Amino acid sequence: MKTAVTGIKPTGIPHLGNYLGMYRPALELARDLRAFYFIADYHALTVEAPPEVRRELSHQVAATSLALGLDPSRAVLYRQSDLPEVCELAWILACVTPKGLLNRAHAYKAARDANLASGRDADLGINVGLFNYPVLMASDVLILRANAVPVGQDQQQHMEILRDIAAAFNRRYGKLLTLPEALIDARVATIPGLDGRKMSKSYGNVIPIFAEPAELRRLVMRIRTDSRGPAEPKDPETDLVFQLYRHLADADAVAGLLQRYEAGGVGYAEAKELLAEALEAALGEPRRRYAEVRRDHALLEAVLSQGAAQARERAAPLLRAVRQAVGLG
Ligand code: TRP
Repeated sequence: MKTAVTGIKPTGIPHLGNYLGMYRPALELARDLRAFYFIADYHALTVEAPPEVRRELSHQVAATSLALGLDPSRAVLYRQSDLPEVCELAWILACVTPKGLLNRAHAYKAARDANLASGRDADLGINVGLFNYPVLMASDVLILRANAVPVGQDQQQHMEILRDIAAAFNRRYGKLLTLPEALIDARVATIPGLDGRKMSKSYGNVIPIFAEPAELRRLVMRIRTDSRGPAEPKDPETDLVFQLYRHLADADAVAGLLQRYEAGGVGYAEAKELLAEALEAALGEPRRRYAEVRRDHALLEAVLSQGAAQARERAAPLLRAVRQAVGLG
């Protein structure tokens, strides 16, 4: 059976873009792959935050995953820092990684270019953790000998770097590392926010997935539309309401609304009502489950520690073989 692994960065209240772009496709994989999900709390260290906030954010990701249907008896959920072996492998990988490869990584390059553009020292405020981020990510995946990595489009470059690093290791020390494939769901590459830009907390255009029904409705009513009246035909390709609806309603309902958009005769107010109903149908049950598990720290810790044990069991032989191959210990 093939193995999939993916990391979830603990970044705060999850929104519809996270759900459709990441959680839903990733959680669906647990049906036919052995799936490992981890909370990327080492990665989160590249950004400053108070320790108690970090712990809470990790629990939030765990609760979100459970609420959205992660079944701990079928899939493995763990906190990255509960698998500290990942740091050892990351160091070994760093030593076969050409620095130039990381100079070209988007996150580092963007931070550097922003400094240069405003006349500051190129590396001002940039920590080595951010620079090394792709190496740690490679380690996350390689340590579990994963075959598949479900990620968003924005992780394409990280996946290429990961494969380059694994290949460099294998050339030098023998074929111990498995080169995984990225699984990128092109259909959900970008989920638009209320204003049409990519849904993102930093744009303030998000729909939080666990918002109460009244709040969900209020946000849906705020989605930007053009000025076409109810009778006029509408463009499903550009209309944001339809663009969200197509990911949430079942195929027949989507086809029905598509037909009415093209023919004319459906107003945006009605389309928004349909979207609000589809959202409630998809998210009502997860909201209830989230409320149940979010404060149940004992439950969350039990799931995470069971997951960590399973991840460590799988990681241990690989790390032993790597140490042996490079001549450590
Ligand atoms: N870099 C990913 C993101 O920003 C998170 C991540 C960390 C990850 N390690 C990973 C994803 C390993 C897949 C596999 O979303």
